[in-house]
Amino acid sequence: MAAINILIDEEKIQKRVEELANQIMEDYKGDDLVFICILKGSIFFTVDLAKKIDNNVHLEFMKVSSYGENTVSSGQVELELDLKSSIEGKDVIVIEDIVDTGHTLKYILEYLKVRNPKTLKLCALLDKKERREVEVKVDYVGFEIPNKFVIGYGLDANECYRNLPYVGYLE
Ligand code: IMP
Ligand code: MG
Repeated sequence: MAAINILIDEEKIQKRVEELANQIMEDYKGDDLVFICILKGSIFFTVDLAKKIDNNVHLEFMKVSSYGENTVSSGQVELELDLKSSIEGKDVIVIEDIVDTGHTLKYILEYLKVRNPKTLKLCALLDKKERREVEVKVDYVGFEIPNKFVIGYGLDANECYRNLPYVGYLE
């Protein structure tokens, strides 16, 4: 098995998630929120973040996939699982594991905008800024990371390593 290098350990992740939760509570005061968890990668992040927030948090799920090779985003995005409830007039935050080229979030944003939420923001645990191909405004970012293929805390390599409590990369 390949050795895993830890990039962001569990304690650091949890501390940053708490900071993001506090920032979100500050921004939305006591308003109800809708978190849209983008499956599967952001499931751990969504759960941890939601648990640290005092507001009512309604959970919705979407799944999208990009065509092409596993580790390379092709820019073509396909919707695999749609929302089950209306987001019209709601304060919505999209929760994503990582922003890489930006194609996935751009697609999701455009898809959600026309459903007329009251507000629509993006929150991503990780940002690989140097890989960006299309511009997306990410309102809440956990960590900016270097251009490495990372795994753990929801992120996978061929469906493996999602349940690691830290973010790492393979040798
Ligand atoms: P984008 O469309 O290029 O921004 O890609 C975003 C999606 O690609 C993420 O939601 C992940 O599922 C996947 N992805 C991008 N970089 C990584 C990585 O380093 N490790 C695991 N998955 C990644
Ligand atoms: Mg993902």
